[in-house]
Amino acid sequence: MLTALVNDYGSNSVVQLVEVDRPDPQPDEVLVRVIAAGVNPIDWKIRSGAGARLGMTLPIRLGSEFVGVVEKTGANVADFATGDEVFGMVKTGAFSEYLTVAAADIARKPAGLDAEEAAALPLAGTTAWQAMFGEAGLGEGQRLLITGASGGVGSLAVQFAKSAGAHVTAACSTRNIEFVRGLGADEVVDYTASRIENVVRGMDVVLDTVGAETFQHAFATLRRGGAMVTVVAFPEGDEAERHGVTVKRSFTVPNASTLARISALVAAGKVSPHVERTFRLAEVKQALDLSEAGRTRGKIVLSMP
Ligand SMILES: NC(=O)c1ccc[n+]([C@@H]2O[C@H](COP(=O)([O-])OP(=O)(O)OC[C@H]3O[C@@H](n4cnc5c(N)ncnc54)[C@H](OP(=O)(O)O)[C@@H]3O)[C@@H](O)[C@H]2O)c1
Repeated sequence: MLTALVNDYGSNSVVQLVEVDRPDPQPDEVLVRVIAAGVNPIDWKIRSGAGARLGMTLPIRLGSEFVGVVEKTGANVADFATGDEVFGMVKTGAFSEYLTVAAADIARKPAGLDAEEAAALPLAGTTAWQAMFGEAGLGEGQRLLITGASGGVGSLAVQFAKSAGAHVTAACSTRNIEFVRGLGADEVVDYTASRIENVVRGMDVVLDTVGAETFQHAFATLRRGGAMVTVVAFPEGDEAERHGVTVKRSFTVPNASTLARISALVAAGKVSPHVERTFRLAEVKQALDLSEAGRTRGKIVLSMP
């Protein structure tokens, strides 16, 4: 089977498409024939060197979320059968024609979406869900600011938060205002026209997907006692103390029941992933380049092979 891997860290020149043996599932795993895989910033970050920081060893197969069809089940797997359409997250190896994954970490692909659309959901969706509802405890009626609202995580976060009854203020650049409004945001702030902290106040929760100065400035939008949750690394600072708020970094972990809840929102017509562009597996470097440019609206997806 074909897989995209790196044997060294660096630019796209280290990415190779190679033939490897098709894996065999362990007793608790399934073998999946991948149909589509979402592209995420973590993929080019791993290629660039984050793989070493995350304790991975070379060669590393790229790709962290997939949609596919169960080809074979391990001896202990009872919940899935050959032919089931599934989706989920993996640490590595989704940019492959086949992968093995723990059956406990996957869920049935949402009905009504094609494979490319569904591939936009597992990692970004789980990230938005765990950060907002898990780490920050977002609830009905609360006021939420989302930074990077037009990206993979942000565009799903807007829709999840609206479906949970939150009042959503979304920050994006001028060209994404209509897109983000279309996702259901109650208010949209153009961060290129005004500083977020000058126009947004009294937030109960901030979900930050941008980091750096955006993260630092967003503290001033929170009410005292509010909660900042970011999915991006941040340096030690005294912002939380100065503003009387809590701050947490959310690290996404695979969770089949979160995927099932996201599927239910899709089935109810409350969530609709946006795929900006689809590439073939052979175009993996172009897909990584486009993601690294940092301007993705919704998601970039690879279709196999
Ligand atoms: N902790 C975890 O487990 C976890 C999980 C998933 C993702 N992440 C991280 O979360 C971050 C976001 O991921 P993603 O998949 O959503 O990325 P993405 O889809 O690549 O985000 C692209 C979006 O970011 C927006 N953007 C860029 N600079 C901005 C700025 N200064 N202010 C506001 N928006 C800005 C762009 O909109 P404009 O063009 O309108 O600016 C674009 O729509 C990445 O760093 C990723 O590695 C972490």
